[in-house]
Amino acid sequence: MNKKNLISVSSFACISAFVLSTTVSAAPFEVLHWWTEPGELQSKQVLVDHLKVNDIEFEDFAIVGGGGDGAIHVLQMRALSGTPPEAAQIKGPDITEWNKLSMLVSIDKLVDTRAWTNFLPEVVIDHVSVDHEYMGVPINIHRVNWLWLNTKIFKRFGLAAPTTWKQFFAVADFIQAKGVKPLSMGGTPWQDALLFESVAISVLGPENYIKAFVHFDNNVINSVAMVDAFKLFKRLHRYTSIAQQGQDWFWASQSFINDQAAMFFMGDWVKGSWTAAGKEALKDYRCVPAPGTDGVFSYNIDSFVLFKKVNTDIEQANQKIFVDTLISPEFQIDFSVAKGSIPARQNVDLSRFDSCSKQSAYDFDHKTKVPSFTQNMATSSHQQGQIIQLISDYFNSESLSAEEAVQQLDVMVKALTSK
Ligand code: GAL
Repeated sequence: MNKKNLISVSSFACISAFVLSTTVSAAPFEVLHWWTEPGELQSKQVLVDHLKVNDIEFEDFAIVGGGGDGAIHVLQMRALSGTPPEAAQIKGPDITEWNKLSMLVSIDKLVDTRAWTNFLPEVVIDHVSVDHEYMGVPINIHRVNWLWLNTKIFKRFGLAAPTTWKQFFAVADFIQAKGVKPLSMGGTPWQDALLFESVAISVLGPENYIKAFVHFDNNVINSVAMVDAFKLFKRLHRYTSIAQQGQDWFWASQSFINDQAAMFFMGDWVKGSWTAAGKEALKDYRCVPAPGTDGVFSYNIDSFVLFKKVNTDIEQANQKIFVDTLISPEFQIDFSVAKGSIPARQNVDLSRFDSCSKQSAYDFDHKTKVPSFTQNMATSSHQQGQIIQLISDYFNSESLSAEEAVQQLDVMVKALTSK
């Protein structure tokens, strides 16, 4: 190759690199998610800012509705009409479901993921991989089985944190007798089921919880322990009120943090909203494992998948930057500080995290990990939705007995898994 050509090649390379970089930054990168509450918006802004630094223009495709049911339906319509977004918040077994449609981009084909095993926990890798190929980018780990205690109310009555359900009912009844609302709760099916999830973990134990809600083991589903779990769950209904019907988790989190209720069951995404409101761990609220679940960490891993679109160099360059940004320790720390979670990456500096997140990180390493079946970690959204509805209908039914609900669950699981 002669010098003249080299110059033209090198000047062409510069020109195309310049065109590429300017073109990359010009291409909006549409991202579907369901982060619409204050804390979630704050953490989404962290994502926007980190992408902007890397010349990716985040195009917001937010679907209201905690837990993401609405978002998944909208995504199905967009995907089936051939106009999926560049990226979407898809988690757990749903990644495998979407991968079957051959719509997802392999992360391994975009970036060198060989080092990821050095800093991602095995359980996280398993949830974002299909046949050992990364199909999702994990960004954080939420703990679901938390019980939040209002510091002011517990101090006022000199109460200790309940660690068993017997203690929980004693504390709740005491507080109720004092004219204070013992438990804040929203009123949508996934929130009812989230409470049931902690009850099921405590009554069945982590192994049988996994057998029942991940592997749909009918022996565990049809067990006396399962009936006991449904009965214990129902006893919690007496702390609910008509006013909460239809209310999302944010509403319930506000009445708790504004001292109108003493206790609250929710994953630590709620902490993001409290941080956004200037509230602090220990000073305003305390975090303890849900009663009877001290030895267990029920996890929920947020992740993003990328959709195959026009498949141009520009698109691939954008996708690569998106993945590199989301997997970076800087982003994962900034994002989780705002979101209330802990980074999916291990061995990152947790000094900016509060005591609840530090507890979460410790427990994730030292306790028995179970996939949250109400947060898309155990089954596909389709199966999860049906089971959640059954559990919520039982919780709010005047007539359905625990035995009948368990029978219905058994029949439903057989239908869902066509065993
Ligand atoms: C979960 C999601 C969390 C959280 C929550 C409430 O499904 O993984 O990040 O935001 O919904 O909307």
